[in-house]
Amino acid sequence: MSEASGHGTQGVPPIAPAASGSDLYAVVGNPIAHSKSPFIHARFAEQTGERVDYQRLLAPVDAFVDTVRAFVAAGGRGLNVTVPFKLEAHALADRLSPRAAAAGAVNTLRFDADGIYGDNTDGVGLVTDIETNLGMRFAGARVLLLGAGGAARGAILPMLERGPRALTIANRTVQKAQALVEQFARAAHEAGCALSGGAPAVVEPEPYDIIVNATAGSLAAAVPECDARAFGPRTLAYDMMYGAQPTVFMRHAQALGANVSDGLGMLVGQAAESFWIWRGVRPDSAPVLAELRAMLAASA
Ligand code: ATR
Repeated sequence: MSEASGHGTQGVPPIAPAASGSDLYAVVGNPIAHSKSPFIHARFAEQTGERVDYQRLLAPVDAFVDTVRAFVAAGGRGLNVTVPFKLEAHALADRLSPRAAAAGAVNTLRFDADGIYGDNTDGVGLVTDIETNLGMRFAGARVLLLGAGGAARGAILPMLERGPRALTIANRTVQKAQALVEQFARAAHEAGCALSGGAPAVVEPEPYDIIVNATAGSLAAAVPECDARAFGPRTLAYDMMYGAQPTVFMRHAQALGANVSDGLGMLVGQAAESFWIWRGVRPDSAPVLAELRAMLAASA
């Protein structure tokens, strides 16, 4: 390890060099010990034969940029970025994908000769999980999005790109939902999607095809306010959160007769898209998701 990478800027963690012959990647966040990304990417590397050494990086909350610079100096090729650094990663990128620009947040950085490229793969991870693993179609669907924070904003463009008939955004703080409707009005128009939003009262009293919970409510065991008639037997109620047990939102939706899913498949899906951005190879998410699911069940 070089002096620069080992004992650089104060507070920046030491960065171990990549295993010989491998390219260096990591997930950076604070906290980071719980992250499943190193496991997922190690599986993707095994599966595809890509020489990827994927580490875990705890950045001090006030030293994200210094940590990224040290990582690049140590030969790092790409980073996944998680809480609380997605906005800083967005600001740091020299170039942004359209979906990262729309999300206002970056979860994937790639370092190459052109500088720092920022993307956001969370939304496509969500959409891919719902379509590929759960067998629902966004095309022509009526979709309800609960929440209007960063997680919700990142999901909107990838959902619109799949051509839903209608997308309603409902949020406790009405102005935030309205701001998203304004921001995405043009993209919705181009997608032929009726976009509306506001307070929870905007939820229509008939079953939606897909309901996505993008509120942080599950963290506090809180179910976001939503008309019970929005949930029906053909509704998929999807929580972006996951845990060893079904979330309170999933239990609530199930009690109302809906089909439910947590966000574990979204986690694997966003990782697969990051892997593609870095390596130009698409890993198979399904066996990795099955393995993670079994590990989660065993820890319950
Ligand atoms: P994230 O990056 O996870 O989206 P965020 O940007 O802080 O985090 O957004 C959190 C979202 O969860 C917001 O839509 C928030 O509603 P407000 O905009 O009204 O704050 C929503 N949220 C958090 N706790 C909630 C609760 N108990 N009930 C309903 N909505 C909740």
